[in-house]
Amino acid sequence: MMLRFAGLAVAGALMIAPAAAQTSFAPRDESPDEFVAGKGRDETFYACTACHGFKLVAQQGLSRVQWDDSINLMVRRHNMPPLDDKDREIVLNYLEMAYPPRAPAGRGGFQNPFAK
Ligand code: HEC
Repeated sequence: MMLRFAGLAVAGALMIAPAAAQTSFAPRDESPDEFVAGKGRDETFYACTACHGFKLVAQQGLSRVQWDDSINLMVRRHNMPPLDDKDREIVLNYLEMAYPPRAPAGRGGFQNPFAK
């Protein structure tokens, strides 16, 4: 009898755990604190995860101008609701700080032809 009751309690705990992980509406169970900490992180996370995971964003390394272009692209091509000036500033500041062009580490990565 006691054993059976303990088993039920464990099963109950297992059922509650996944539900608790679902509190944010971001896709694929991402949460802002998995990404580079900084001012504007939460704003950026929620602005960009309406349609896709933030990993798609975080795997890029872009300059501010290129981030700006990316946002324009999201608006133009993917029907993202435009950010107002204030939010756009917050998002750009964060992206520029957290995901700058990567240092040319050998092969691959983006290299700015104008940087010298
Ligand atoms: C309204 C929907 C929507 C929103 C909001 C959105 N995106 Fe996207 N984004 C897309 C779609 C659709 C794609 C292309 C499909 C895919 O790769 O998942 C995409 C792809 C991307 C890519 C991959 C490169 C490319 O050009 O395909 C990047 C980088 C990106 N988005 C950045 C952002 C950033 C930064 C934000 C927040 C400022 C954002 N997105 C918000 C819809 C959106």
